[in-house]
Amino acid sequence: MLEVRTQVAIIGAGPAGLLLGHLLSREGIDNVIFEHRSREYVEHRVRAGVIEYGIAELLSDAGVGERMRRDGLVHHGIELRFDRASHRVALSELAGGKSITVYGQQEVVKDLVAARLELGAPLYFEAEVTSLDGLTTDRPSLEVATSEGSMRVTSDFVAGCDGTFGVANRAIPENLVRRYERTYPFSWLGIIAQAPPATEELIYCRHENGFALYSMRSPEISRLYLGVRPEETLDEWPDERIWEELSLRLATDAVPEIGRGPILERGISALRSIVLEPMRYGRLFLAGDSAHIVPPTGAKGMNLALADVRALSRAFLARYQRGDEALLDVYSDTCLERVWRAEEFSTFMTQMLHPSYTDEFENGVQMARLRQVVTSEAAATVLARNYVNLCSV
Ligand code: FAD
Ligand code: PHB
Repeated sequence: MLEVRTQVAIIGAGPAGLLLGHLLSREGIDNVIFEHRSREYVEHRVRAGVIEYGIAELLSDAGVGERMRRDGLVHHGIELRFDRASHRVALSELAGGKSITVYGQQEVVKDLVAARLELGAPLYFEAEVTSLDGLTTDRPSLEVATSEGSMRVTSDFVAGCDGTFGVANRAIPENLVRRYERTYPFSWLGIIAQAPPATEELIYCRHENGFALYSMRSPEISRLYLGVRPEETLDEWPDERIWEELSLRLATDAVPEIGRGPILERGISALRSIVLEPMRYGRLFLAGDSAHIVPPTGAKGMNLALADVRALSRAFLARYQRGDEALLDVYSDTCLERVWRAEEFSTFMTQMLHPSYTDEFENGVQMARLRQVVTSEAAATVLARNYVNLCSV
């Protein structure tokens, strides 16, 4: 068995694990990343698309923002659509001039992998962490399975950046972690289409048939979502039906049709919220989706993951440069305050934009909320500030 020794062992090469590794390597803190999947797989996994103002700055400051600044689409507003009418929320005007950047998560991952390889720092793909041991001692260890055999890794600390279904969060004894969970009664059917975006800004739409979202990846590629019932499957959604439903929900009196094109990718994901408290067990620190899930309506998943590792990297830095563990001790509380704010905002957006199929009272409240956001500057300002920069304040 191959023996590996490092200061921080990182599980998972999603946005959280890769940025953490990068921030630590830049400061000379030794770390190794283990990723279950192949490089090809993680670089092409289609997920989030909206990067907050402060998180885009974090990526730039870390030296991995060059392509994002060049190819990312900077947006100063979003549209809210309901009752066949469009209402613009002027994000930048309401949020102190700040903007969002639309740039696919897999592009962030590609940039981080490239930066890591350039630094020559160790990153193992197709290396699955199968067990964690000694987490409450000062020599935690991991077992890692690869096609060439097993590795035993000892470290000072372990960062669990391995998503919801990883091994890290399950290594915490059940009686020492509190799990908060909510499942919403809808899923999102998402597509990537080779069709020029219908608009310059994202459109969040509430229609009596369900939610719809128009987003994009480039001037040629659109990213669209439909709210569907949780039991629905892709088999029930041939291309024609997807486009019909998107057109129906997104139509306004002024713009009755949206442009169509070949569908390149499709998937359905359930909407849910999860928070684990605390995000630490001994020398194991959880970051990103391994500790929390938000419904995607607030576009916060990746932003939260990156904000966690900004805090965690600062805490490791204080520990290694000054022997100071105070930031590690407050890591969980610091992150959880932000996580709950993101849960609140994501719940607010989800509940405002997904009509209930059963509860007409709920629908009345939703419409009142939407009308308030598009008529009250105070309400729009709260939305804009949360949308543009929640993870950095
Ligand atoms: P991940 O990106 O999940 O990375 C974790 C990594 O750990 C993975 O690469 C995984 O292979 C690896 N791993 C797992 N177990 C092990 C193991 N035992 N050993 C080694 N490696 C392991 N957010 C939005 O804002 N908008 C969206 O549209 C959106 N769509 C999403 C669709 C799906 C299907 C999912 C799952 C999430 C989506 N999200 C979305 C959320 C957003 O993508 C996540 O919040 C973000 O990926 C979190 O990054 P992460 O690094 O914490 O976790
Ligand atoms: C996306 O572009 O994939 C996207 C945009 C906004 C969201 C969720 C996903 O709220």
